[in-house]
Amino acid sequence: MQKAGFNIVRMAEFAWVNMEPEEGRYEFGWLDEIIEILGKRGIKTILGTPTAALPPWTLRKYPEIMVQTPTGQRLTWGMRKHNCFTSGVFRLLSERITRAMAQHYKDNPNVIGWQTDNEIGGHPMCYCHSCRANFQDWLKNKYKTLAELNRAWGTHFWSQGFGDWSEIVPPDKFDEHNPHTCLDWKRFFSWLNVRFQKEQIDILRALCPNQFVTHNFMGLFSEINYYDLAEDLDFVSWDNYPVSGKPDMTNNYNAAMAADVMRGLKRRNFWIMEQTSGSHGWGTLSRNPRPGEIRKIALQQFAHGAEAQVWFPWRACTVGREQYWHGILGHDGKPGRRYQEAAQTARDLHTLDEHLKGTTVRADVAIIYDYESVWALSFQPAYDENKYHQVIGRYYQALRRAGINVDMVRPGQDLAGYKLVLAPDLYIVRDSLASQIDAYIRNGGVFLADGRFAVKDETGLCHVRTLPGLLAEALGIEIEEYEALRGGIEYQIEEHLHRAPVTRTAIHYADWIKPTTALVLAGYTDWHMQPYAALTRNQCGKGAGYYLGTIVKEPAFYDALIRELLESAKITAEITAPEGVEVSTREGAGKKVLFLVNHTEQCQTVNVPAGKCEVLRNKTTGSAIELAAYDVAVIRL
Ligand code: GLA
Repeated sequence: MQKAGFNIVRMAEFAWVNMEPEEGRYEFGWLDEIIEILGKRGIKTILGTPTAALPPWTLRKYPEIMVQTPTGQRLTWGMRKHNCFTSGVFRLLSERITRAMAQHYKDNPNVIGWQTDNEIGGHPMCYCHSCRANFQDWLKNKYKTLAELNRAWGTHFWSQGFGDWSEIVPPDKFDEHNPHTCLDWKRFFSWLNVRFQKEQIDILRALCPNQFVTHNFMGLFSEINYYDLAEDLDFVSWDNYPVSGKPDMTNNYNAAMAADVMRGLKRRNFWIMEQTSGSHGWGTLSRNPRPGEIRKIALQQFAHGAEAQVWFPWRACTVGREQYWHGILGHDGKPGRRYQEAAQTARDLHTLDEHLKGTTVRADVAIIYDYESVWALSFQPAYDENKYHQVIGRYYQALRRAGINVDMVRPGQDLAGYKLVLAPDLYIVRDSLASQIDAYIRNGGVFLADGRFAVKDETGLCHVRTLPGLLAEALGIEIEEYEALRGGIEYQIEEHLHRAPVTRTAIHYADWIKPTTALVLAGYTDWHMQPYAALTRNQCGKGAGYYLGTIVKEPAFYDALIRELLESAKITAEITAPEGVEVSTREGAGKKVLFLVNHTEQCQTVNVPAGKCEVLRNKTTGSAIELAAYDVAVIRL
């Protein structure tokens, strides 16, 4: 590790039984020794609280801490993340091991920080009596009166009117139960996870004021409201594994989008706590990262705001469920191709340090990214293909193809600093958010919404106004009818984003849009759809509101649409690059740095500003730069 230029490791995140072999008896000697060995070689340690895997003694003594299924069965011990979060015993055990670790390591100069638990979320939901009672209490606190809860959940439907708080049952079939109940249950579950983490953080903050506290998030995972989970941390870290499928740009851009989501959680740079370093899986393997690819995967994250990274794992385990999760080293422990590449990456990161210090991604474009809409759409997607990240991805990928930085922002966050805001699949829209967007447009912002925008309020009741509700004037349209295009139904649309009209294909879903004041940028040609628009633009105040009421089959449509939006918002890219070469910039502290990431397996030539320093090669640029397969260039502008 030392030879490869590594200077941090993370350890102990599943080592509960090794640190507390029986309740209240702690053994840290083995860990002290490793931390010291590493410390002597200039390698600092991040410690994980170990609560994501339960020691067998916890089960022997306290069987009630295991998750209970909706049918009343306790899960079998032996996996990880199977605890009930309302169990007082579990919370106490979690506090005790956290406190014992914190007390032991608070003054250890080689321990620089903490990771809470591991990848919070992905737990099965628990349906025990305690969870049910806690859910009822949480609802009482939220709604105050049963009458208000009954109103917010529309319980006059299907005979659900509650006469007593104790009658409320957590839902388990999210495509059949009352969607309002499902939404609050998801919120409650997310809140439980956040509370659990907070209890650990409070201990770490009190005892270890000089060590940071972070958590390893899972990128586009959306079962937990990550904005809330991030709130109590110093910074966000995340685990990046983009080599699961064929090498393709969707995977590459999903890693970019995840990075932007992670940066948006606290609106600051993040760390990578687990970076892909080999072929991985629990039973079957993923493909092996190809020559140059793990370096490229790592540097892409720095282009999006990473400040540090840890590979996972260092060496493939010879034991246990994760034997196939390959790391920098294989089972034989011999430094090979991936080790050499990790060492090269470490040298690159040391070189980049002075150029990136004080910089972050600055974006003119924001996408509103909302966990509650994801949850609500998961119960009622309206059309089968409505997958949140695919919907966002169509615009996001076109923006990245255009070389434009993007921020992912929480609903309600101030939008004034952005020239262009997109709200794909923004299904739950409170009136306050609608008013904020309305004002944003009138004050000069360019805004785009699409199908299923603002259908519901915060408890999941359908708004009674004709869609798009409070935004009808700003968007200059009315939508009285809409449909899913099932069974392969396709409509033709004629799009006017180019000099000559282009024929496109509408799939999956269609709003029947009646323009009131909006211009029609694309309209349907099928006989019954001719009165309706597919894409509209409305001038409103100093700004413009766009609405796209369908999904268009051809990705080139989204490139044309993004070009139109960027022109309208007067945003230009730093440079243009060939397809497959991702362009990003970071700036701050008087510096501006351009990243070019070649995601392809071909050599690419990119036109760049001449006379600048290409930092990784330490050369002055000519008018073009050559990038080998998976190569990355970083240019100081
Ligand atoms: C997650 C965990 C790691 C490891 C990997 C592979 O990313 O955080 O500890 O278990 O999965 O299974």
